[in-house]
Amino acid sequence: MPVISCSAPGKVILCGEHAVVYGAPAIALPVLQVSTTVKIIAKPQAPPRSITIKAPSISLDGSLDSLELDNPLRAAVNLVMQELRVNRIPACEILINTTMPLSAGLGSSASVTVALVRAISTYLGHPFDNNRVNHIAFEIEKLHHGSPSGIDNTVITYGAPVFFQRNKPIEFFKIIRPLTLIIADTGIKGSTASAVAQVRQRWEMDRDGFEAIFREIGQLTLQIRRDLETGHLDEIGPLLTRNHELLQRIGVSNLALDQLVNVAMQAGAHGAKLSGGGLGGNIIVFANPEQAQQIAQKLLKSGAARTLVTLIPSTDGAC
Ligand code: MEV
Repeated sequence: MPVISCSAPGKVILCGEHAVVYGAPAIALPVLQVSTTVKIIAKPQAPPRSITIKAPSISLDGSLDSLELDNPLRAAVNLVMQELRVNRIPACEILINTTMPLSAGLGSSASVTVALVRAISTYLGHPFDNNRVNHIAFEIEKLHHGSPSGIDNTVITYGAPVFFQRNKPIEFFKIIRPLTLIIADTGIKGSTASAVAQVRQRWEMDRDGFEAIFREIGQLTLQIRRDLETGHLDEIGPLLTRNHELLQRIGVSNLALDQLVNVAMQAGAHGAKLSGGGLGGNIIVFANPEQAQQIAQKLLKSGAARTLVTLIPSTDGAC
């Protein structure tokens, strides 16, 4: 029985989240230790249009047609069909497995979409290239998050560090020296959609103040990119911590995130910040590789629900 299997990684935002929605640059990194796999198993004996979909992480087990039209999974499949101008898919079972915690800032929604779009387009005989996958994944992110910048789907589709600015070509850049990051999850589910909406409301009330913060975040991001490109990793820590302070000022941090940032800094990290939408989810911590496990242990003792030590490898900037 033919089986198609496609996957996609997770991500962290290194710097620039939220400001990126308003046109500032941001940097995102793929996280390869977590991933989503979508398998498609052809069911030639099943009735012609029968498509079942199973996603244990969200307790989904049913027919694709029973999902609402704007359900992101169904919408992703429909967009692939539209692109290919086909009106039916041969009977099959779609099986979605992710090793990613949901609503934790690791990009689970984009990861599921990217893996699903790859799998369906392959099953239909026309595997999409990354540009096509990314285009559809962005449309589906809008169903999840309202007005996303597009950074999550982009880093997850290309699986490479990206320097991202809205309405500008995607830039892949060099990382001269590998860096060690600890990702620590508060265990509190953070809704990116509501964080983005809250920032929008506050921005409406104080546009000048918020624009100044977004400009500073943009400058930090440019500096961090230069430091990664030139291997000046010692400079990056304080810039990340400053980014966290600015995220506090726009109201997307909370006590749990701040506490984990403080614990990491007291344990000897070079820098730490919330990552992604905030209001829960993850912090990222930049530390010496030799200290990473010890800091991760302290974070766990101080209430982190889980930690992940990840090495961001050096890259030549090509993709
Ligand atoms: C979420 O990973 C990053 C945000 O900036 C939202 C977005 O860019 O779409 C908070």
